Amino acid sequence: MLSFILLSLSSYVAGAAIERRDAVPAGYVAPPYYPSPHGGWVSDWSESFRKASLLVSRMTLAEKTNLTAGSGIFMGRCVGNTGSAERVGIPQLCLQDGPLGVRNTDHNTAFPAGITVGATFDKDLMRRRGVAIGEEFRGKGVNIHLGPSVGALGRKPRGGRNWEGFGSDPVLQAFGGALSVEGIQSVGVIATIKHLIANEQEMYRMYSAVKPGISSNLDDRTLHELYLWPFAEGVRSGVGSVMIAYNAVNGSACSQNSYLINGILKDELGFQGFVMSDWLAQISGVASALAGLDMSMPGDIHTVPVVLGSSYWMYEYSRAILNGSIPVDRLDDSVTRILAAYFQMGQDQNYPRPNFDTNTQNAEGPLYPGALISPSGVVNEFVNVQANHAEVAREVARDAITLLKNTGNVLPLPRNSTLKIFGTDAEKNPDGINSCADQGCNKGTLGMGWGSGSARYPYMDSPIDGFKARGASYQFFNTDSFPSNSNPSPNDTAVVFVTADSGENYITVENNPGDRTSSNLNLWHNGDRLIQDVAAKYTNIIVVVHTVGPVLLDGWHDLPSVKAILFAHLPGQEAGASLMEVLYGDVSPSGHLPYTVPKSEDDYSDSVSLVGYQIGQPQDTFSEGLYIDYRHFHKANIKPRYAFGHGLSYTNFSFSNAVLTGVTPLRSTPPTRPAKGATPAYSTAIPPASEAYWPENFSRIWRYLYSWLEKADADNAAKAASSTTKYPYPAGYSNVQKPGPSAGGAQGGNPALFDVAYDVSVTVTNTGSRAGKAVAQLYVQFPTSSFDTPILQLRDFEKTSNLAPGASETLKLRLTRKDLSVWDVVSQNWIIPNLGGDYGVWIGDSSDNLRLRCGTAARTCVGNQPSLV
Ligand SMILES: *[C@@H]1O[C@H](CO)[C@@H](O)[C@H](O)[C@H]1NC(C)=O
Ligand SMILES: *[C@@H]1O[C@H](CO)[C@@H](O)[C@H](O)[C@H]1NC(C)=O
Ligand SMILES: *[C@@H]1O[C@H](CO)[C@@H](O)[C@H](O)[C@H]1NC(C)=O
Ligand SMILES: *[C@@H]1O[C@H](CO)[C@@H](O)[C@H](O)[C@H]1NC(C)=O
Ligand SMILES: *[C@@H]1O[C@H](CO)[C@@H](O)[C@H](O)[C@H]1NC(C)=O
Ligand SMILES: *[C@@H]1O[C@H](CO)[C@@H](O)[C@H](O)[C@H]1NC(C)=O
Ligand SMILES: *[C@@H]1O[C@H](CO)[C@@H](O)[C@H](O)[C@H]1NC(C)=O
Repeated sequence: MLSFILLSLSSYVAGAAIERRDAVPAGYVAPPYYPSPHGGWVSDWSESFRKASLLVSRMTLAEKTNLTAGSGIFMGRCVGNTGSAERVGIPQLCLQDGPLGVRNTDHNTAFPAGITVGATFDKDLMRRRGVAIGEEFRGKGVNIHLGPSVGALGRKPRGGRNWEGFGSDPVLQAFGGALSVEGIQSVGVIATIKHLIANEQEMYRMYSAVKPGISSNLDDRTLHELYLWPFAEGVRSGVGSVMIAYNAVNGSACSQNSYLINGILKDELGFQGFVMSDWLAQISGVASALAGLDMSMPGDIHTVPVVLGSSYWMYEYSRAILNGSIPVDRLDDSVTRILAAYFQMGQDQNYPRPNFDTNTQNAEGPLYPGALISPSGVVNEFVNVQANHAEVAREVARDAITLLKNTGNVLPLPRNSTLKIFGTDAEKNPDGINSCADQGCNKGTLGMGWGSGSARYPYMDSPIDGFKARGASYQFFNTDSFPSNSNPSPNDTAVVFVTADSGENYITVENNPGDRTSSNLNLWHNGDRLIQDVAAKYTNIIVVVHTVGPVLLDGWHDLPSVKAILFAHLPGQEAGASLMEVLYGDVSPSGHLPYTVPKSEDDYSDSVSLVGYQIGQPQDTFSEGLYIDYRHFHKANIKPRYAFGHGLSYTNFSFSNAVLTGVTPLRSTPPTRPAKGATPAYSTAIPPASEAYWPENFSRIWRYLYSWLEKADADNAAKAASSTTKYPYPAGYSNVQKPGPSAGGAQGGNPALFDVAYDVSVTVTNTGSRAGKAVAQLYVQFPTSSFDTPILQLRDFEKTSNLAPGASETLKLRLTRKDLSVWDVVSQNWIIPNLGGDYGVWIGDSSDNLRLRCGTAARTCVGNQPSLV
């Protein structure tokens, strides 16, 4: 995090002149949407809003503004710490990274990353991992967990943070996100889905004093059908918090984009919780409040004064209320949303206080490290929160392992195999498993990418540990160059470990500033060369890839000695035993690719490459629209190396007896939305200035962000309220609450969107000779209409239990109204584009291996169909 300060400082110093702001391409506009909708109108939340608004009505101005922002970067034990309102019983709230476990602590679990979870295609595991993560955050005293990440969606194969999410498909990402939210919140932790929205590359993401952050320019339909979809599902699951992205959309910074926050998130999706900024993403005070931001994190101003301690909110928010610029109901709504989430998760009942410190590993240290001169005390209490979470972590790591190739059934390995193992990725980082802050290096076994989405490893069960524990007969060559002394024998099986890494932009690893800018989609550390050299000397080679996303395999894929290829993704701490269980055949592999693996980077459309330096605001126009990942490959008729959803097993499965049953009859438009329920009544009267006065004799900590004002300042602000100079409100500004758009009506949108239109069941039979789990993937093919739609789109999936040879299981899948709809930009609603048309409902185990087709017109299902792609 210190790097944030240095970063902002250096960009401030380096930028001599204020640069011109590049024009957003014609046609992309960020329309105004005001006012920010009051929360509380959804019945699931009404009791929490009742409690919260009662409390808010008893709070002073300074208490309220204290809860809407952090007390400053490095000014508390957590990565974000709000102010408190102790008088009414509300403590400082602790916010902590990250999506795969508690960051910067000890006695925690380093869970497999999101991309690994996506590869399991296992809803039950998605939820159980969420529960375990929730228990660890709760155990450490974290109120607000900064995960899951459902954006980046993985539009750009080189994007640095794709691995934090669940894969390059909105529905896979949505299940991963929503089930994580449900798991995490089931134990009382507030989950945060992030980063809203279109945060698809790392470089140029942040606003600095001299350069605006990158603008993602995308049309309304693409927004709804791809990038917003997982957020809608997270909101539908009752997520308590949403984090706003650094970048702009259509030229307007997400942190103050009223159309995005007020319009889409709070009104259309009916989001009831609170909206926080990403760290230092807030770039204005009054404007961001009016646009719907509810919490500023970590509280400071994003540019140089961050080192001095200054805020757009806190004391400035108090001032903006007293001078009448921000309406009182806007503040009351923000605080009520924050407290409603707190009550909704039951955090008023015996919730633990933070017992760790993100800033140090020592037992004692400064309480406010950012203050330089700070009182000291106990900061780390080393509370063990691991319980038996290693088990679910190992299960995820194991069931994510994706077998791409297995020529001659070289896998599973016979117990007596003699192995020659190559590649530094097979063993722990010799410098120490946590030797690089935020895992900002790629040395030793790659269990996760780098950045704020990382966690410290309590231990690393490396592949070599796994081979040892198995009593395997092996020799390990801990090098990424082929050694001359490996003494190949015809009985040897060679296992080669290779990696590809990426992460968050504030750390550059081997010339990759977060995104894979210089490694491209290649393996790191000359992995191609190592495999080629091993292949020249050995006849049986197994390649194990730990990777953040797609990599190019074509330098060696077809070499005759390369018999098997496994993607073990990012397994977290459980890299070893999970892999052994698959390699030695205790279980059959059951992971499937959560993205497409191409043959060449040229196979993608140009518009998904990284945006380089541009004078002014970098513009990133999503001209490919709906066509990312497999949707693009299908449309362009390009055969990838491995298709989205691909994954082999040690056994075979057949899919049969598919049955499609109509449930809810559809019309071309959904039924009228329900009206909003009642929301709390807020006073519009500006409170007395005295509510913001500093208390007498208060001993202030330097750089700490407080919500009080000097008496004279508060009095002057109150006077300004009656002056004729008014805040220059943006075009379209209004403070009259609206009924909300027709696409809304409940959390996630119009509840009718989630009506089940069709139930689909399919019988999966294990036709091979080993036990294994199968994944049934369901894709829809829209009938012809005036809407251009991707050839196939994933809509649901299910995984079987471990099926013995010959055993069968019937899986239940479903299609909702939304699944069969397109977003109509004209009517601003989800519509069925061709009501009488025949939807193809395709079932199989990969996007390119769909052989069973059900049709909605005849409601029949037929097997042995030729693949559409
Ligand atoms: C961006 O601009 C496009 C084209 O005008 C529009 O359809 C879309 O709604 C805008 N999105 C946002 C979030 O402003
Ligand atoms: C704001 O929060 C800080 C930190 O918890 C606390 O010291 C201060 O008293 C709070 N201010 C108010 C008005 O309660
Ligand atoms: C009120 O205070 C806010 C916060 O300092 C400031 O941005 C705004 O311009 C002020 N408005 C008026 C009318 O003085
Ligand atoms: C391993 O055992 C199998 C059968 O038990 C045998 O056929 C094979 O030759 C053995 N392999 C080695 C390398 O000893
Ligand atoms: C390979 O394994 C077989 C069966 O165990 C054994 O008879 C043979 O000697 C081994 N060959 C070498 C070169 O080690
Ligand atoms: C699965 O079936 C295919 C086609 O019959 C066959 O080639 C393959 O070897 C089988 N795989 C396994 C693991 O049984
Ligand atoms: C503040 O400090 C002054 C001087 O020490 C003392 O006279 C006064 O009583 C204190 N006020 C409060 C409210 O503690």
